[in-house]
Amino acid sequence: MQTILIANPKGGSGKTTLATNVAGFLAGKRQRVVLADEDPQQSATQWLARRPALFPQVAALPAERRALREFDPQYVVVDSPAGLHGERLRDEVRRADAMLVPLTPSAFDMAATARFLRQLAEYKAVKGGELAVALVANRVDARTHSAAELDAFLQDFEFPLVAHLRDTQVYVHCARDGASVFDLPRSRAEQDWEQWRPLTRWLARQARAAAA
Ligand SMILES: Nc1ncnc2c1ncn2[C@@H]1O[C@H](COP(=O)(O)OP(=O)(O)OP(=O)(O)O)[C@@H](O)[C@H]1O
Ligand SMILES: [Mg+2]
Repeated sequence: MQTILIANPKGGSGKTTLATNVAGFLAGKRQRVVLADEDPQQSATQWLARRPALFPQVAALPAERRALREFDPQYVVVDSPAGLHGERLRDEVRRADAMLVPLTPSAFDMAATARFLRQLAEYKAVKGGELAVALVANRVDARTHSAAELDAFLQDFEFPLVAHLRDTQVYVHCARDGASVFDLPRSRAEQDWEQWRPLTRWLARQARAAAA
């Protein structure tokens, strides 16, 4: 079982968008996937409730450990709340096999994320290479000045940047409809599938490394 933690204490950076789409991607690949909603706002849980029954199944985290064992998930995707820090963050990081940090190219987000990444880099599991961490630039238009600034900013960190996701209503509609971009027809989401490819490859590499 692979636990993928999605975290950035900065509110609105794209954690739930990333978590629901990662879960939708894995479900589409016929993986047994649980979406663990750690946020009291319960956005991921609401997304799950809206998810059409005909779409590849994403399970909610059952309250009972026994039920989780019976479902035997191959993946647990954890959507964490804004403001996660201290011991709770440490606990989440301890349980994770891989971690994705979404961030948007705004000066406020970058400053907050910089503090978070510096903190993360000090964790033993991260230092020792047991926990792989990757960054996802969210709501970026690759042609803009702010995208270039974000790329330059991220060069100060050792973590790889594994995707640039564009700012599009496609994600807003997916959130509303209990969908991921992978549940949409090619005609609507081909560009987004393309943008996700390096991220999904990174996930596959982490899974292979864990199995080895
Ligand atoms: N790439 C994108 N394009 C357009 N809208 C987006 C994109 N990513 C996220 N959004 C929208 O931005 C808002 C914030 O995103 P999201 O809820 O995923 O962030 P979050 O980090 O989970 O927020 P919180 O910290 O409150 O949990 C949502 O309304 C979401 O639909
Ligand atoms: Mg959220």
